[in-house]
Amino acid sequence: LEAFFTPKVLAGKQVLVTAGPTYEAIDPVRGITNLSSGKMGFAIARAARMAGARVTLVAGPVHLPTPRGVERLNVQSARQMLDAVALHVGEADVFISTAAVADWRPANSADQKIKKDGSGQTPQLSFVENPDILATVAHSSRAVSGQLFCVGFAAESHDLLAHATTKRIRKGVPLLVGNIGPATFGQDDNALLLVDEAGARELPHGRKQDLAVQLIADIATRLI
Ligand code: CTP
Ligand code: CA
Repeated sequence: LEAFFTPKVLAGKQVLVTAGPTYEAIDPVRGITNLSSGKMGFAIARAARMAGARVTLVAGPVHLPTPRGVERLNVQSARQMLDAVALHVGEADVFISTAAVADWRPANSADQKIKKDGSGQTPQLSFVENPDILATVAHSSRAVSGQLFCVGFAAESHDLLAHATTKRIRKGVPLLVGNIGPATFGQDDNALLLVDEAGARELPHGRKQDLAVQLIADIATRLI
């Protein structure tokens, strides 16, 4: 019913969304991840679908139901997420990067479970940087030429406006959506700060589902 009353501002558009954390394996039974719940990204995928878009959702490991009518691809690592995005971004009009991608992964993931050897020695982990999915997409020719509209997200613990402004420019995206984290992780509520070239606009505190609808409406006005 809610979908029925939503204006179809994204009819005919293809939207690609990433959501949730990534999981970077240390060995077959252990890995590194983060506390992202995926709720904001899933809400955005749902809102985009209700607005009439065809929606592909690339999701890290989360236990959330797939929004009705959304095509979902499950991935674990940042590299798998990049591969899934690369496969689908070619047809997209909008890319919304809400995923909390792990910044680093273990340099070597063991084929077998790492065992204690009884000596009390601990394994020495070293890390390598993961690909930056958003920056990669935002620097693609379709994004640069304006055929693909890219939206970044940032959870910041302090100085939201300043960090979001810098991050928007560093990532090369026209719109960056900031929120105060990690307080909002796993919650059903949030408040968003939409930062673009002209300045910032706040979507005040509300349910993630409602904020997602407002954000989608805002993005729709930015498409040519
Ligand atoms: N992002 C991404 N791939 C990465 C890291 C981040 O696609 N490897 C995207 C996120 O989905 C988000 C945006 O980039 O849309 C900002 O992520 P964030 O973690 O806030 O920025 P970083 O550049 O990783 O900087 P830092 O974590 O140091 O603040
Ligand atoms: Ca990061």
